[in-house]
Amino acid sequence: MGFHTYPVERAAELEDASRYRFCSREELLGLLALDGTETVVDLGSGTGFYTDDVAPFAERVHAVDLQEEMHDLYREKGLPGNVTPVTADVADLPLGDGECDAAVTTMTYHEFYGEAALSELRRVLRSGGRLVVVDWSRAGTGDEGPPREERYDLESATAQLEEAGFSIEYSTERPETFALRASTD
Ligand SMILES: C[S@@+](CC[C@H](N)C(=O)[O-])C[C@H]1O[C@@H](n2cnc3c(N)ncnc32)[C@H](O)[C@@H]1O
Repeated sequence: MGFHTYPVERAAELEDASRYRFCSREELLGLLALDGTETVVDLGSGTGFYTDDVAPFAERVHAVDLQEEMHDLYREKGLPGNVTPVTADVADLPLGDGECDAAVTTMTYHEFYGEAALSELRRVLRSGGRLVVVDWSRAGTGDEGPPREERYDLESATAQLEEAGFSIEYSTERPETFALRASTD
């Protein structure tokens, strides 16, 4: 398990559209490169702020979050028809082997990273499956987002994912966040 879990008391902040300055819908969709046939798992979906952006471009989305209250808020907002809320830890996913074509996670990798979580992620992704990670970077200022000491930088995240058997296809680090796309063999 990674660092602190985002508190449900601050869930409203997840719906603030100014968050797109850290990762836009277009960047996320460009990295995912979906063709509409995929089963996608969103790891740490929260209130579904970014899940809503991905859902129209996927066949099906499993929105995974530890906190049932986050799913309650997403239900209140309105779940897209192809999104299924799943209350689970990334390290113990109630999904079948190779069930997912792609996985996405926004601003949450630092909360769930651990060898067990990455091994579980590999299990549920099919061979040739894609993983897109956008998260706060330790190389950032820390003026917004979690404290810098709770973040990973791109170099560490790359090493962790390669250790878990992912191949990094693309990565970039910006003032406050990093983004990467990885794939399984
Ligand atoms: C910072 S919020 C981001 C939510 C969403 N990805 C977004 O960008 O709007 C992190 C979310 O991940 C969830 N989370 C943290 N650790 C998790 C874990 N190990 N397994 C599943 N969900 C987790 C938290 O409950 C929280 O809702």
